[in-house]
Amino acid sequence: MHEQAIFLLFPALPNGIKHTHNLFQKVRIIAGVSNAAIRAKKKEGNQYQCNLALAAKISQEWSTMTSSEQKPALLGGRPVVNRDQWPTWPPRLPGMTEALRQVVEEDQWGVRSTIIAEFETTFAQSHDAQYALAMMNGTMALIAALKANGVGPGDEVIIPAYTFVASATAILQAGAVPIFADIDKQTFNLDPTDVAHRITSHTRAIMPVHIGGNPADMDAFGQLAKKHSLIVVEDAAQAHGAVYNGLKAGAIGDAGSFSFQSSKNITAGEGGMLLTNSEEVYERAFEVYNCGRTLNGPWYEHVSPGLNMRMSAFQAAILLYQMPFLEEWAVTREANGRYLEEQLNTIPGITCARRYPGTTRNAYHLLIFSYDQSHFDGLSKERFLEALSAEGVVATPGYQPLYRLPFLKQQSANGEFILPVTEDACQNGIWIRQFELLAERPMMDGIADAIRKVQAQAHALHES
Ligand SMILES: Cc1ncc(COP(=O)(O)O)c(C=O)c1O
Repeated sequence: MHEQAIFLLFPALPNGIKHTHNLFQKVRIIAGVSNAAIRAKKKEGNQYQCNLALAAKISQEWSTMTSSEQKPALLGGRPVVNRDQWPTWPPRLPGMTEALRQVVEEDQWGVRSTIIAEFETTFAQSHDAQYALAMMNGTMALIAALKANGVGPGDEVIIPAYTFVASATAILQAGAVPIFADIDKQTFNLDPTDVAHRITSHTRAIMPVHIGGNPADMDAFGQLAKKHSLIVVEDAAQAHGAVYNGLKAGAIGDAGSFSFQSSKNITAGEGGMLLTNSEEVYERAFEVYNCGRTLNGPWYEHVSPGLNMRMSAFQAAILLYQMPFLEEWAVTREANGRYLEEQLNTIPGITCARRYPGTTRNAYHLLIFSYDQSHFDGLSKERFLEALSAEGVVATPGYQPLYRLPFLKQQSANGEFILPVTEDACQNGIWIRQFELLAERPMMDGIADAIRKVQAQAHALHES
């Protein structure tokens, strides 16, 4: 579609087509014209011309794209959403190359780097935490958080089975045993009631995972921890900037860990961070992550068999550069996430994950919803995702229960170990990824329109 068309549409819609800002924005996005380009045209004093025929063609095209009566894209119809309009990830911000050049020319590349120190301080401040250690990845940060809190051989740590494998392997690497508890059907987060049933004399810690960036029920875990003298280590790998009861996720429990791996809400391809408010935990974590060195000890004095888990200055530079954007992106994800959930919850068979009442900000690393195929003419989740992808919306199927992995199998007194809500979440859960929530608002309508279209055409979409 020619760029000029967008400038013609706004003042000159044909009869019967509502002249709305929303429609204008949709067509603008489909045409691939930025708001900045429109502002520039206005500044130039460009007169909008009336060209009814062209305006009619554009609006016709838009309604063809969104009409649920149209042929599914998977069967040769026209996609609802133009894939080229999604933001790309990782974010290639123009100043990043300069930030890297500065490290090359002016900073240390590892130990004693001022950039690493500045990133630690900035990230800790943005999460209201007192201490931070930048690590090579989130898995290392989790291991350090556990070890620094004294978790080791003979200990059990309770975690959800609806999470990334690193939540469990970090516990194994610390020498302890992961014990799986079920999740809350409404939020997809670790269920405190089920956790309470699994506490034994060996339990040392609870590790809630803020799944998809949606904070877990930290009040309940705090109370359980107090009652049973347990430690709470937050797996906040997906929860940058999430807020629960006025507190930042990852800085609520005894320690928290974050990931900056490629898909995360800020990223350096790889990277991790440990946060804590305890000086003692910080000092022990320093030892674990820095080859067994003590905070101010001599370079070749190693008091324990710690590892090298340190982040490089190149990772830190890329991440520090993104810090001013973290807040801006978080605001956009939260606004688009809430809006999209409102839209999706009106579609029969789609139920979005809820948040706990104290949550004022979901980091929306993932917007998670549950798919009920009985409202989609029995269309399997796989086929639904295939059809949705053809419509220009890529959603992903999510995790498998961790206790299915051969090295994580759990014992059960009465046969196979099953967590029913986790099973259901793995079977029916679907994710929209964080960077899609950074798209412009009409693209959120596009996601809902695409799902409505697949629903309306479910019968035709059945595998032949
Ligand atoms: C919930 C969760 N925990 C832990 C990790 C581990 O982080 P990383 O991949 O940076 O080691 C990830 C990220 O992949 C994750 O999503």
